[in-house]
Amino acid sequence: MHPLQCVLQTQRWGPLASVSWLLLRTCRAHSNVPSTACPSLERQQEDGVRKDFSSRLASGPTFQHFLRSASAPQEKPDMEDPPPYLTVDELLGRQRKVYLETYGCQMNVNDTEIAWSILQKSGYLRTRNLQEADVILLVTCSIREKAEQTIWNRLHQLKALKTKRLRSRVPLRIGILGCMAERLKEEILNREKMVDILAGPDAYRDLPRLLAVAESGQQAANVLLSLDETYADVMPVQTSPSATSAFVSIMRGCDNMCSYCIVPFTRGRERSRPVASILEEVRKLSEQGLKEVTLLGQNVNSFRDSSEVQFNNAVSTNLSRGFSTNYKPKQGGLRFAHLLDQVSRVDPEMRIRFTSPHPKDFPDEVLQLIHERDNICKQIHLPAQSGSSRVLEAMRRGYSREAYVELIHHIRESIPGVSLSSDFIAGFCGETEDDHLQTVSLLREVQYNMGFLFAYSMRQKTRAYHRLKDDVPEEVKLRRLEELITVFREEATKANMASVGCTQLVLVEGHSKRSATDLCGRNDGNLKVIFPDVEMEDVNNSEVKVRAQPGDYVLVKITSTSSQTLKGHVLCRTTLKDSSAYC
Ligand code: 5AD
Ligand code: SF4
Repeated sequence: MHPLQCVLQTQRWGPLASVSWLLLRTCRAHSNVPSTACPSLERQQEDGVRKDFSSRLASGPTFQHFLRSASAPQEKPDMEDPPPYLTVDELLGRQRKVYLETYGCQMNVNDTEIAWSILQKSGYLRTRNLQEADVILLVTCSIREKAEQTIWNRLHQLKALKTKRLRSRVPLRIGILGCMAERLKEEILNREKMVDILAGPDAYRDLPRLLAVAESGQQAANVLLSLDETYADVMPVQTSPSATSAFVSIMRGCDNMCSYCIVPFTRGRERSRPVASILEEVRKLSEQGLKEVTLLGQNVNSFRDSSEVQFNNAVSTNLSRGFSTNYKPKQGGLRFAHLLDQVSRVDPEMRIRFTSPHPKDFPDEVLQLIHERDNICKQIHLPAQSGSSRVLEAMRRGYSREAYVELIHHIRESIPGVSLSSDFIAGFCGETEDDHLQTVSLLREVQYNMGFLFAYSMRQKTRAYHRLKDDVPEEVKLRRLEELITVFREEATKANMASVGCTQLVLVEGHSKRSATDLCGRNDGNLKVIFPDVEMEDVNNSEVKVRAQPGDYVLVKITSTSSQTLKGHVLCRTTLKDSSAYC
């Protein structure tokens, strides 16, 4: 038998990840660790486990087994029904302590809690102390080269931890989860022999099995992408009792195929979570006293829940004016406006945000709803990526600069006072100095309140990698990025200056990191607001003086600003409903 038991499988759902695989490989065949490295008693035990495991593996899953699980929607591991080569007992965590470390975007923060929820049900414990951990899992990001380099560096540090591990303790297991596992697959196992498990973004339900396989000294991986996995029934665990806000994942994957972006390859096709399960999670969070939810997804406003047959009519999608898609028009299903409407009705005292949207999906009904509903924050992230129509075309963004600017005007007319943010990439393939200056001018023209600016990082598999040349020298990319950051800051400072003298509703998060005598919270536009922690009146009971606690809404008069923070003094404690009419 080939030491690498690898099941290749042509996916039903097209070319995005034309080959996906599950693999198990034996430590003896592939590890550099000589067998003499094991202390004898431990080795005897391990050998026993291995022999037992090998014999069960031989009578275990066949090629057909994997094909079967591949041709149905992804099977959910069931503790009653373990795979043939594992017992129910082996799938249990046996109180092993898991340390989870998150890199990258907010999706990954949410995925970390999904992974943890699955492991907790399986009998694992969580630790925040690395030294205590029996299992270390890194939830990784692949969006830019630098993000991956950070993980490689971290793995080198963890290697030392693994080698120095006392033999009296159970062996330390290390896992790579998320986008990097999906992108690099076995390259990680080959490069870093001390990595025990790999789990792609759609394989977290398989974590107990992967860890059980790793227990016997094998490396194990599942990087299958799914067409329908949304973890709808996995409620992330709220780990911080003082938390005021939470993320709620509403969709996964992306069909846009912007030419620079790896996400469609690491996170797979776009799919939405059923509305009913999202509402159930938001209700639970409201019952727990949380005051803010952020609806999460790679393309939140492309949301389309087609799980309920009666809504699968042939009504086609309303795109923003002047915008197009790289895929065939989709029809039917419950759309983002419906979801936003429903979610915002759960608890009028709960703020609703969403990220990250694509500018193509802002039809009037979404804008109208944001304008009308008090608890939907007047804050829109509108990733432009570039101010040059020529570059936007090369990026396959589906809009021109003019269409984007027109949308900005339309949004500002529809939602007065809206706070805007954007993502930009400096130095994309073929970007000239003139293209760059057009991005500078877009930053000046729009005057965003927040910005996320990056130097272009070429990613294998993307269209840009295959068709375009990464021809802007690194130092030019960095110089342009610096210029964009400077201009963004100048404009954001000006935009935020408009708040001075205004009274804003702030959701208190806790004490300021810089000063124990100050409190910190967020305004409706998601900007940080710092103010002294003093006694104040409560609007519903003027007779008592109160001190604001995390989760309280307070009115703060803004007295000064920078590009990223506002400062002010607190007027009173209030509620979201009571504060709807203010400057
Ligand atoms: N290089 C640099 N930035 C990128 N982004 C996505 N792909 C790349 C890349 N290859 C940025 C985009 C996106 C944000 C999440 O990351 O601006 O909106
Ligand atoms: Fe990183 Fe994108 Fe993956 Fe998020 S989805 S972890 S940003 S590569």
